[in-house]
Amino acid sequence: MRRSLITLLDFVALANLVKCIPVSKPHFYWEKTKYFIAFGDSYTYVQGTSGYPNYSFIGSYLPNQFSFTPETLLADQIVQNFTATAEGGPNWVEYLTGCGLHNGTLPQSCDIQLWDFAFAGAGVSEAFLPLHHDFTVPLVNQTQQYLSWAEPVIGGRNMDKSSALVAVWIGINDINDSVNQLTGIAFREFWDRIVSAVFEQSVKPMYEAGYNNFLFVNLPPLDRTAANQKRLLPRPSKAEIGWWNRALEKQSKAFAQQNTNVKTMFYDANTFLNGIMDNPGTYGITNTTNYCPAYNQLDVLTDPNKYGCQPLDEYFWYNSGHM
Ligand SMILES: *[C@@H]1O[C@H](CO)[C@@H](O)[C@H](O)[C@H]1NC(C)=O
Ligand SMILES: *[C@@H]1O[C@H](CO)[C@@H](O)[C@H](O)[C@H]1NC(C)=O
Ligand SMILES: *[C@@H]1O[C@H](CO)[C@@H](O)[C@H](O)[C@H]1NC(C)=O
Ligand SMILES: *[C@@H]1O[C@H](CO)[C@@H](O)[C@H](O)[C@H]1NC(C)=O
Ligand SMILES: *[C@@H]1O[C@H](CO)[C@@H](O)[C@H](O)[C@H]1NC(C)=O
Ligand SMILES: *[C@@H]1O[C@H](CO)[C@@H](O)[C@H](O)[C@H]1NC(C)=O
Repeated sequence: MRRSLITLLDFVALANLVKCIPVSKPHFYWEKTKYFIAFGDSYTYVQGTSGYPNYSFIGSYLPNQFSFTPETLLADQIVQNFTATAEGGPNWVEYLTGCGLHNGTLPQSCDIQLWDFAFAGAGVSEAFLPLHHDFTVPLVNQTQQYLSWAEPVIGGRNMDKSSALVAVWIGINDINDSVNQLTGIAFREFWDRIVSAVFEQSVKPMYEAGYNNFLFVNLPPLDRTAANQKRLLPRPSKAEIGWWNRALEKQSKAFAQQNTNVKTMFYDANTFLNGIMDNPGTYGITNTTNYCPAYNQLDVLTDPNKYGCQPLDEYFWYNSGHM
């Protein structure tokens, strides 16, 4: 293993010396991005008219809902309303792409097409932790779903893959379920293995299908949820969040090093969101310690006082686990 790596690096170094060219990575231009393919959990899922209600854009893990036809995929519309995300309105992929901000959006009608296979409640794989529900599609199966039934329709030769970005935001349920359900486990090594599965079983197959641009988002400050702020010892702790995040950053760099025509990008959501919590006023946020208990009542938007709440967008936390 080590021997062949050295040989490969020597070869690359030699080739560059001889040809006098730098090792080049594909350039990534957001302005040229036409396809945004997303995988993950509730933070990222969008509601589709052919999705599992409150959980997905399309299908579920139930045997008769795992596959879908080209017709179903191409007729599937992104629903936008108070309950169509886990945030009480548009989520990060919808804001970023501008796709799905309005109710009834066909992804293929957007300038940046959002194809979102994230499933609320997902972890990386059922090989590591139990599914939240029998219908929950884990990350490694979301990419299977995409490659089996979406790639032949919207990908393949129809898509210029240099203008596609594959985004993965995962781990929130893995780390939370680990600390809540497992004992006597060395979490650092365990999560390192889970992160390896992200690259082996999801990123690599996407790369082999021709995708070169990858965006990874790290874990938010789950050590500072409303519940954790009241605990002497938050679970997960800041250190535990750091273990997952360092494994992700390290393996994301390694994947790019091992595959010359791959560009991996890493978004440090953790630092950004901790910054908001430390300086909430800059963002118009006044409450970082609690969430409104009536967050899921439709009229809380128009009458927060009725529930003893402030307007929802003044809270950092939307509920026990979402922003
Ligand atoms: C979706 O979630 C909302 C808000 O929690 C709930 O009112 C609604 O019943 C759920 N829909 C289904 C089909 O479970
Ligand atoms: C949001 O859309 C879903 C799916 O169309 C629907 O079932 C639900 O009632 C809607 N919720 C609201 C608050 O409009
Ligand atoms: C939102 O779009 C869906 C899909 O087209 C549609 O079924 C639903 O009625 C729309 N909701 C509203 C409030 O317009
Ligand atoms: C989900 O992926 C795992 C790992 O590749 C595999 O063992 C399992 O069979 C997949 N599930 C389905 C329904 O294909
Ligand atoms: C934060 O929100 C909770 C729930 O609405 C409320 O009880 C608490 O007083 C608020 N704290 C601050 C500092 O506004
Ligand atoms: C973590 O798990 C607890 C207990 O199941 C749940 O209440 C909480 O919402 C979860 N947090 C996140 C961030 O998912």
